[in-house]
Amino acid sequence: MEDTKKSVRRDNKGFSNLDELIGGIEETIMGEEREIYTEKTLEEAYNPKNVGELKNPDGAARVTGPCEDTMQIHLKVERDIIIDSKFMTDGCGASTACGSVVTELVKGKTIEEAFKVEDKDILSVLGGLPEDNLHCPVLAMTTLRAALEDYKKNLNGEEVKV
Ligand code: FES
Repeated sequence: MEDTKKSVRRDNKGFSNLDELIGGIEETIMGEEREIYTEKTLEEAYNPKNVGELKNPDGAARVTGPCEDTMQIHLKVERDIIIDSKFMTDGCGASTACGSVVTELVKGKTIEEAFKVEDKDILSVLGGLPEDNLHCPVLAMTTLRAALEDYKKNLNGEEVKV
């Protein structure tokens, strides 16, 4: 019985040390990330908005970039205005930040206005990205444009039916 208590105590102490170790590693990583990424990029990467899927989206696309990461964007459109947008990605933190920003940027825009959103608009919100990550906003833009095209295609399909 006593042995078990000792063993539990040892385990707890072990976990506590492990927590400290993980905490230390996280602090180091965060410190290194702060040197590379802007505060806004880290905020959007760690607390992204609009993550997920929409039920019956009016426009949807999933695109895999040259880095082999994939992004999916769903759009909900009412009277030509994008009223909701969600994204998912298996990509890097920067791609998560870009997905978060692009889905926020298009909300409330007409389809035509959304087509005019560019990767430089995402970069401007994030305050820039390192050169190695410049393809991440491009993946977000390519996915957005494909979702907009999908919306237009669906709309045309509906018009033909009427
Ligand atoms: S590294 Fe692939 S999207 Fe960022």
